[in-house]
Amino acid sequence: MNPIFSALPTTIFETMSRLAREHQAVNLGQGFPDDPGPEDVRRKAAEAVVAGWNQYPPMMGLPELRQATATHFRHWQGLELDPEAEVMITSGATEAIAGALMAIVSPGDEVVLFEPMYDAYLPLVRRAGGIPKFVTLTPPHFGLSEEALAKAFSPKTKAVLFNNPLNPTATNFSAADLDLLASFCIRHDAVAICDDVWEHVVFDGHRHKPLMSRPGMRERTVKISSAGKIFSLTGWKVGMVMAAPELMRVLAKAHQYITFTTPPNLQAAVAYGLGKDDAYFEGMRTDFQRSRDRFAGGLSDLGFSVLPSAGTYFLNVDIAPLGQGDDVAFCQRLVVEHGVAAIPVSAFYAEGAVRNVVRFCFAKHDATLDKALERLAALRVKG
Ligand SMILES: Cc1ncc(COP(=O)(O)O)c(C=O)c1O
Repeated sequence: MNPIFSALPTTIFETMSRLAREHQAVNLGQGFPDDPGPEDVRRKAAEAVVAGWNQYPPMMGLPELRQATATHFRHWQGLELDPEAEVMITSGATEAIAGALMAIVSPGDEVVLFEPMYDAYLPLVRRAGGIPKFVTLTPPHFGLSEEALAKAFSPKTKAVLFNNPLNPTATNFSAADLDLLASFCIRHDAVAICDDVWEHVVFDGHRHKPLMSRPGMRERTVKISSAGKIFSLTGWKVGMVMAAPELMRVLAKAHQYITFTTPPNLQAAVAYGLGKDDAYFEGMRTDFQRSRDRFAGGLSDLGFSVLPSAGTYFLNVDIAPLGQGDDVAFCQRLVVEHGVAAIPVSAFYAEGAVRNVVRFCFAKHDATLDKALERLAALRVKG
């Protein structure tokens, strides 16, 4: 057995979900929305299953989805992409990340990772033979610093794997952070693998700024998007990959031998969805922002120390003011004694674990959030 996977423990997500079921808890641990997603997009998928093509679609993706992807990201992010040479469809962002690492990293290459990080990154980097180099981000702002980047980059740096907006911290990196990171990638001739899956879920009137659009980054960036996150349909696993032709040729080889294709009916529905008018995307953001504010307001009223959430489905709480210094023990007590499941953020760190932050998913119905708040009232902080 390969030890990289066989040695992995049961994830905290599984543990928390099991405890949530056993204790009939309100599950704010897992990151998926209560809402079923846009009905017209789901109907398109259903129609495509019944009346459309159900055999292997083209390896690079349906032409209409590759075109829709280019059009969508020109409109929303000002990117100019050639749909034929620079866009590929994968089975979710996860396949795209795995494929990009396999295509770009050779054994012994260093890969810069920003912790806290999405749980799949580290095993995938290691399995590709990459040597992880961590940039440890800390609360409350989780921003980048020149000093930390200088420590992580070296002449052996082949790639960085960068998630923006960042799950779990809900950080939307500033233009200054992006320019700083771009300058390191350029200086070290590194490829930026950008996990942009949360790009549409940004709040307070801000827009996602892709690292790909910073000067000098167009030719050295792999941009990865996910229809699952764009349309709140997390089970769909349709990913969009964008990169300059030279990079794309190699990425396509990896995709060819990992999954080869992605269900054509879902691709057809995503092509339709990407063309939806601005009101849909603005409305989606407004709805999530309203849920964020409802939950953040409720937590603040109870005296919790709520960290800023600029995007994603997540909101973090600093448990240090509660006199708590162990997020795992806190989350276990929360689910067992109070019936609310959350995720300890230390689970997203490999080295420099921050132990005083807990992540809640607020992409839930009002009634679900209110029920969680009622239960959390038992922990009210006396001020
Ligand atoms: C940062 C990040 N990357 C990738 C994914 C997975 O995307 P997909 O479902 O398209 O594979 C997620 C899902 O939560 C995520 O948060």
